[in-house]
Amino acid sequence: PIVPVILSGGSGTRLWPMSRDERPKQLLALTAPETMLQLTARRAGADSGFAAPVVVGNAAHAAQIEEQLEAVGAAASALILEPVGRNTAPAIALAALAAGGGADPLLVMPSDHVIADVPAFHAAIAAALSLVEAGWLATFGIAPDAPETGYGWIQVGEALAPGVHRVARFVEKPPRDKAEAMLAAGDHCWNGGIFLFRADRYLEELRTHAPAMLDAAERAMASARRDGVRIWPDAEAFAASPSDSIDYAVMERADRVAVAPVAMGWSDVGSWDALHAISRCDSAGNACAGDVVAIDTANCLVRAGEGKRVALVGVQDLIVVADGDDILVLPRGRSQEVKKIVEALRKR
Ligand code: GDD
Ligand code: MG
Repeated sequence: PIVPVILSGGSGTRLWPMSRDERPKQLLALTAPETMLQLTARRAGADSGFAAPVVVGNAAHAAQIEEQLEAVGAAASALILEPVGRNTAPAIALAALAAGGGADPLLVMPSDHVIADVPAFHAAIAAALSLVEAGWLATFGIAPDAPETGYGWIQVGEALAPGVHRVARFVEKPPRDKAEAMLAAGDHCWNGGIFLFRADRYLEELRTHAPAMLDAAERAMASARRDGVRIWPDAEAFAASPSDSIDYAVMERADRVAVAPVAMGWSDVGSWDALHAISRCDSAGNACAGDVVAIDTANCLVRAGEGKRVALVGVQDLIVVADGDDILVLPRGRSQEVKKIVEALRKR
């Protein structure tokens, strides 16, 4: 069966101050009463006919991850706890090894996305499955509507099967002018960051394109400590791995890469602006959460964390987030820059 692999190791710095090291974005309920991790697990839950998920996250979050998964009846078959983050390519290598490294298809999912149309997602998985079983690496393509530089871009090649095309070119995080050209060309889509491939095929691509990474992952798993479903890869061996994303390390270079373009109401909730765009707003365009009083206020995203109250009068197009000891205020449209705040705080 398909083995879901859930990546839960990111830090989600652009959603500060809600998202913090102790409780990053994927462990928060941002778009629904359930957390992003829980929504991800349910999207590939037992009723999909998939195996129990393999989850890869930071050791510091073990208890939160386990609790959240159990609460939605999606307990992991393996919870791999990284001593340090080495980005997605090594994390997926650990998962592929934990899943046995054989022909089982892995459905690799970030844990911090929204997918509104889950049946469409499953239809795209089904469309790609036979090519994947035959050894192709599949990704899911999202129709682009902006020259995003934070995504991977895929040039869609010839049809391989109904709903599935060859990837003519995979370009991770292009500069602005290239992104604009690809958007204008009309034959590109964004990489949704979700992948489907056989575990053995992924490991084979790593052997070719990133042998030091595969070597580190194999060593880390060979001397891992295990307790029930929890797996702690050997810290020293894993720390020796180069740090790189699957997109740069594998997808830009691999052979036989396919894309299934799919309209599934996808958003990566990458910023406060993105969250505003997918939130249900009131008639004045405000998306408020928590204890908020907004008078004569329009098109704002306002979130009051636990024990906080936020009150606004006569403002528009603002993002205001109060959480813990922190208050964030910025105009809409600049939320990519929240990353800079976190960097500045880390330097203190
Ligand atoms: N376990 C683990 N360990 N998970 C990680 C690590 C790590 O070291 N680093 C990142 N992750 C998780 C994040 O939590 C997230 O769920 C997912 O892996 C993707 O990482 P991001 O850091 O969010 O990647 P990105 O947004 O820059 O780019 C990727 O996603 C885009 C779509 O959202 C790429 O695949 C792009 O090509 C793609 O367009
Ligand atoms: Mg991301």
